[in-house]
Amino acid sequence: MTPAAEISAAGASHTASPRPWDLDAIRRDFPILDQRVNGVPLAYLDNAATAQKPAAVIDAIGRFYRHDNANVHRAVHALAERATTAYEAARERVRGWINARSASEVIFLRGTTEAINLLAHSLGEGWSAADRVVLTQMEHHANIVPWQLLRERTGIEIAVLPVTEAGELDIQALPELLDRPTRLLALTHVSNVLGTINPIADIVRIAHAHDVPVLVDGAQALAHQRVDVQALDCDFYCLSGHKMFGPTGIGALYGKAEQLAALPPWQGGGEMIRRVTFERVRYAQPPQRFEAGTQDFAGAIGLAAAIDYLDTLDRDALAHHEQDLLTYATERLDAIPGLRLIGRAAHKAPLLSFLVEGVHAHDMGTLLDRKGVAVRTGHHCAMPLMDFYGVPATTRASLAFYNTRDEIDRLADAIDYARGVLA
Ligand SMILES: Cc1ncc(COP(=O)(O)O)c(C=O)c1O
Repeated sequence: MTPAAEISAAGASHTASPRPWDLDAIRRDFPILDQRVNGVPLAYLDNAATAQKPAAVIDAIGRFYRHDNANVHRAVHALAERATTAYEAARERVRGWINARSASEVIFLRGTTEAINLLAHSLGEGWSAADRVVLTQMEHHANIVPWQLLRERTGIEIAVLPVTEAGELDIQALPELLDRPTRLLALTHVSNVLGTINPIADIVRIAHAHDVPVLVDGAQALAHQRVDVQALDCDFYCLSGHKMFGPTGIGALYGKAEQLAALPPWQGGGEMIRRVTFERVRYAQPPQRFEAGTQDFAGAIGLAAAIDYLDTLDRDALAHHEQDLLTYATERLDAIPGLRLIGRAAHKAPLLSFLVEGVHAHDMGTLLDRKGVAVRTGHHCAMPLMDFYGVPATTRASLAFYNTRDEIDRLADAIDYARGVLA
C-alpha cells in the first residue's frame, strides 16, 4: 500500500459528517493566530515543533478545572467519578482515533519521547549484547537516545537503515538488515526534517516476515493524516498530543494487547498495582500497569477535545489543502536563487527544510521573525540525518491545515529579504 492509500484507507473507517471547508472560519478557531508580532501579522510555520490549539481545546481544559477536577481512579465522590469517567472516555476517544482494538491498548504518557523511553526500558529488560535493534537514518533523537541508553546498560547492537539522497528510506536494504535476529524495528512514520511519509504498512509486512516487531514514532503523522494501527499492523505506535492540536504534557503509547501483556512496568507507584506487601507486589493489567502516579488527566481530556475538533474537519479537503500548500511552497522556494531544499520524497507531509547559500540557518530564523514568520532553525533533534546531508542545521517551515498561500508568499518574500541582508 502507498502511504497515500494507507491514509485514505484508514480515513474511511473514521468519517463523520464534516463542516464545509472554510479556511477563514478554521483560522478563527485558533485564537493565537490572530495577532501581530514585530508589527506584522503572525505567520506561524513552526507546527512540527508544536501545533496551535483551537479554542475548543483551551475551553475543554478550563471547563474541566472549573467544574470536574479531582484525581482519577481513586475516590468515590461525585467529582472523582466525573473526572474518572472523562479520563476513560478520553482513552476511548484515542482508541477510536487510531482504531486500536481495545482502549486497554492505549497508555497515556507525556508524549512520544516518554513512550519510546518506556519501551526501551521495558522491552529491553533482560536484553544483552546478543540483541539488536534496527533504527533508520532519519530518526529524531527521541527514537535514538533511549536505545543508546539501553545499549549502555546491556550492550545491545543498534543497526541503521539508510536513507536515499531524496530523503526516502532505502527499503531494498531492509530485508538483508533484518536477516540477522533482531528484537525490534523502530522508525518514524513522518520525518520531522524531511517531511517524508514512510510506507509503514509495507515496512511492517517485511519486518513481520522476519518475525521482527515494529514500533512507529507517530509524533509528526497525526497532525496531517488519520492513522489506523490495525491497518498498519504495527506492534507499537507513539503519539504526542501537542503536535496534533492538543495540550502539552500528554500523549499516548499504543501497543498490541499481546505485546503489552508481556511487558514489565517501567515506573512504580500508585495505581499501577493490584496488591502490595513489603514482601511482594502484583502489578495491574495494562494500561494501568504503565500509568504509575497521578497522570495528566486534564491533558487527556484536552487531547480528546482536540480529536473531537479534528473530527469536525473535512479530512479530504484538509489533505488537499495541505498538499496544495506543499506544492506551492516547494515551487516558491525552488525559485529562490541559492536555496537548497532537503527532502524530496514522493510522499511528503507539508514541511520544508532548506539552506540558503551565504545565510546561516540561525540568522535566517531571526530575519524571518522580523517579518512575522515563525520557523524552526537548527538540527531539529536529528543530528545523524544532518550528518548524512553534511549540514549543521537547516531552516524548517512546517505547515498545518490553518496555514495559507499568503503565508507561503510571506515566507518566500522574507527569505528574499534575508538574502538581501546577508547573502
Ligand atoms: C519525529 C519525532 N519524534 C519524536 C519527537 C518527540 O516528541 P515529544 O517531544 O512530543 O515527545 C518529535 C518532536 O519533535 C518528532 O518530531
